[in-house]
Amino acid sequence: MRNFNPIAPATKVASIKYAVRDILSVAAEAQEKGLEMLYLNVGDPNIFDFETPEVIVEAASKALRDNRNGYAPSDGIPQALEAIRENAEKAGIRSIQDVFISNGCSEGIEIALSALCNEGENILTPSPGYPLYTALVSKLCLEMNPYFLDESNGWQPDLEDMAKRINSKTRAIVLINPNNPTGSVCTEETLRGIIALAKEHSLLIIADEIYGELTLDGAVHIPLASLDAEVPVLTFDGLSKAFLAPGLRVGWGVLSGEESLLRDYRGAVAQLCRARLSSNHPQQYAIRPCLKDKSHLPALREKVGRRRDITVEMLNAVDGISCVSPKGAFYAFPRLDVPQEEEQEFIANMIRATGVVVVHGGGFGQRPNTAHFRVVFLPPEEILRKAYGKIGEYVKTHR
Ligand SMILES: Cc1ncc(COP(=O)(O)O)c(C=O)c1O
Repeated sequence: MRNFNPIAPATKVASIKYAVRDILSVAAEAQEKGLEMLYLNVGDPNIFDFETPEVIVEAASKALRDNRNGYAPSDGIPQALEAIRENAEKAGIRSIQDVFISNGCSEGIEIALSALCNEGENILTPSPGYPLYTALVSKLCLEMNPYFLDESNGWQPDLEDMAKRINSKTRAIVLINPNNPTGSVCTEETLRGIIALAKEHSLLIIADEIYGELTLDGAVHIPLASLDAEVPVLTFDGLSKAFLAPGLRVGWGVLSGEESLLRDYRGAVAQLCRARLSSNHPQQYAIRPCLKDKSHLPALREKVGRRRDITVEMLNAVDGISCVSPKGAFYAFPRLDVPQEEEQEFIANMIRATGVVVVHGGGFGQRPNTAHFRVVFLPPEEILRKAYGKIGEYVKTHR
């Protein structure tokens, strides 16, 4: 068409990266060469040998058949909201001000940040951390403000670093606990330190606890909001990870803290929930039954724990790799002894040569002058052994 200018995308989109999926173009090159592909890049249990618990399948199917296919109330169906509230109270969270259901935590987190931040403000995000947060920073025209996790301290958030980065435009501290990509679980001391900083600077804490039920070796996950009834916290959880149903896209947020501090913010969150009508409706009927029946969890933790053991043992046996043992979730973030500026290319070449798909550390953030990669240890044990064998060989010969 003459005189019709090309449709220009928003400039902010160019800076949005999602390394976990972006790596697939490199993987495609390996696949074209006919290599056996071993995918250790996506945290989706259902593409491996994990199945959604029957209680969830039953309840969601029944809701579909019962024609619960209209819009839901904007914040979610009452029976599910009540079950989430009870579950949070049982976990020790007091002064709950609001609960809302979203299309996965992802949508809930976007609503939470959209209701909170004006353009040019910033939120403290963990580095390494899950790339959703950095994508949202770009989408909402915020400033990046990452704080480091300390590898030499089991990847606990570095509270000194966090404190240094708080400025007059900081609005929230994001905590991912257990963490993606390191699998670290916060100590009570760390959590209390974060609460103290939030109180000192009037910050909302976004506690992403989607892996909270997935601790390994009996490690204890303490919900941050359970430690303080006053500090404003928005805790996120959902069905994607411990409940093995990421495709149902069900997540929720629990807003807690002193009522007078949260009145306006709670209203803004509710307004944004209404503005998008409702989240997925039929699958919300699975929330109450599965929060009442978590009988699949012990076996799940044990199975994932065995895969974690293989991961840590085999990777730490490789010269040039060192791996802090994850205490939760299903990720490890081993350190790679190559210069940081070569990390991305090294990992891309390793994928091309071995067919083992992992994600370079830069996709999650890391301290300067360090290099890492993330592995998802959900695949069956024989696949993991094969993958780590290939990684070991490659690192030995190419480093
Ligand atoms: C830390 C963290 N938060 C949130 C999500 C997204 O959760 P959902 O599937 O509920 O949107 C993920 C997914 O990998 C995650 O790792």
